[in-house]
Amino acid sequence: MSLPTTMPQSLPKHLAIIMDGNGRWASKRFLPRVFGHRAGVETVRKVVKYCSDVGVGFLTLYAFSTENWSRPATEVGFLLSLFRIFIEKEKKFLHANNVVVRFIGQRQALPGDIQEMMLDMENFTTNNTGLTLVLAINYGGKTEIIDAIKRVCQQRQQDMHHLSDEALNQALSENMYLKDIPPPDLLIRTAGEKRISNFLLWHIAYTELYFSDKFWPDFDENDLNSALTDFMSRERRYGGVVSQ
Ligand code: FPP
Repeated sequence: MSLPTTMPQSLPKHLAIIMDGNGRWASKRFLPRVFGHRAGVETVRKVVKYCSDVGVGFLTLYAFSTENWSRPATEVGFLLSLFRIFIEKEKKFLHANNVVVRFIGQRQALPGDIQEMMLDMENFTTNNTGLTLVLAINYGGKTEIIDAIKRVCQQRQQDMHHLSDEALNQALSENMYLKDIPPPDLLIRTAGEKRISNFLLWHIAYTELYFSDKFWPDFDENDLNSALTDFMSRERRYGGVVSQ
């Protein structure tokens, strides 16, 4: 799959995706919801390969939110097992494709073996130079901001009250989980819902949004190509005016 060559703008450096619609995909086929999650892993694989091939720098995928713990225990357990299988099975594929893997979210709440696997995956791929794949697991945008505030308070203590808005903005940015990664240029959400669901709240101030009606397991390279093409035709002004 190749990208159109006549587009005025470049590809997003950082693409973020809310992978929604696994449950509905399965229900439509009279299957248990978890079959949708399993089918969704295939799309993860396709999208990672595509982004890696076309030269997207950073891909952040929302795999499990801080709110997803409220799902039935069997579904949560299944998702955790999928993460285990994914890390184990895809480690070599990701490494062979020069992908750097990182995880964001509160990992201390996850089972110990998954925490170890995450660390091992991060260490294994740390020296790669291609796509950085950020997997958000037990991630919440508000929690990320709260964690950053706590860290800044610890670092600055009494000094905190004297920080200018700009210095505070800088200090918070430097303490976000994604502190060393540029903010997403494009955020895609699949499955028709038009909301942010506590994803990357700090980082999406000027992110372009794209909504696809496809359920995540049905989302393919053509759909991603359409989203990227649409993005590349947009004019980004960051609160400024049209350039002459
Ligand atoms: C939202 O669909 C999807 C999730 C909460 C889980 C996403 C997980 C995967 C795509 C598979 C595993 C991922 C990795 C990175 C290995 P939903 O269940 O809310 O769908 P619904 O809105 O139709 O119910």
